[in-house]
Amino acid sequence: MDTIECENIEINLLLEAVYQKYGYDFRNYARAHVKRRVMRRLAISDLQNISALIHEILYNQEVLDALLLDLSINVTEMFRDPLFYLTIRREIIPVLRTYPFLKIWHAGCATGEEVYSLAILLKEEGLYNRVQIYATDFNEVVLSKAKEGIYPVELIKEYIANYQKSGGVGSLADYFNARYESVIMDQSLKDKVVFADHNLVTDGVFGEMNMIICRNVLIYFNKDLQDRVVKLFLDSLCSGGFLCLGTKESLRFSKYYDRFEVLIDKEKIYRKKYC
Ligand SMILES: C[S@@+](CC[C@H](N)C(=O)[O-])C[C@H]1O[C@@H](n2cnc3c(N)ncnc32)[C@H](O)[C@@H]1O
Repeated sequence: MDTIECENIEINLLLEAVYQKYGYDFRNYARAHVKRRVMRRLAISDLQNISALIHEILYNQEVLDALLLDLSINVTEMFRDPLFYLTIRREIIPVLRTYPFLKIWHAGCATGEEVYSLAILLKEEGLYNRVQIYATDFNEVVLSKAKEGIYPVELIKEYIANYQKSGGVGSLADYFNARYESVIMDQSLKDKVVFADHNLVTDGVFGEMNMIICRNVLIYFNKDLQDRVVKLFLDSLCSGGFLCLGTKESLRFSKYYDRFEVLIDKEKIYRKKYC
């Protein structure tokens, strides 16, 4: 048995230990991603090998917390992929406008930038008063940052450019207050948002959503887990509800592909078929 095979066994044991001790289930995350992140954790710690990391994980919660951050890549930004937001504005908002009340779920919202982006868009389109937004992530550290809505001021220039490309009709500065090195998002953008801990692997459905936005999350899962999560979204959407994925993600190879209509292929916007 070569070293790579042994490492794979050690990674299986590590993921099993994390699951059995803490309930976080990474066993069906994309193996190349897990391996990269575990190796990085080893390189920056004093540990000799993955077996030593298993021991640390079992007896030291801080090591687990660090590994959770490693495995859940939290990169995000405001109006990320501006053309996606422009498409929502032009193609999806006119449909949403016909509904008296809207329920939207941001799954894997990380530190919340995309949640505030959508809240701004809905405000500008006059739909914010009739929406309930659920913003979830399984990582409590990023979720508490999302709730705070405080971001480094040096990122704002890029966010303003994204906002303009996304079809923003006002000025991004209308939606935050600058304080020294940070900007604080306007309280009104949080009024319609419930931030909640939710694990896509182990937790259940959110009922009757008109739109689910889960961008740049499925990419870290293997095919079986992607299918499981797409089924969770299918069961959480009302008929005609929209599912929005990241630009590098697709439903094309999903077991549930035929339950969706491809609405805008380029922006990975799908619609649950009416039964
Ligand atoms: C790369 S970020 C994407 C953030 C945002 N959706 C975007 O596109 O900018 C991926 C997020 O998915 C979250 N995530 C990963 N696995 C998850 C799971 N099993 N349940 C819920 N969230 C998860 C991570 O914590 C992370 O915040």
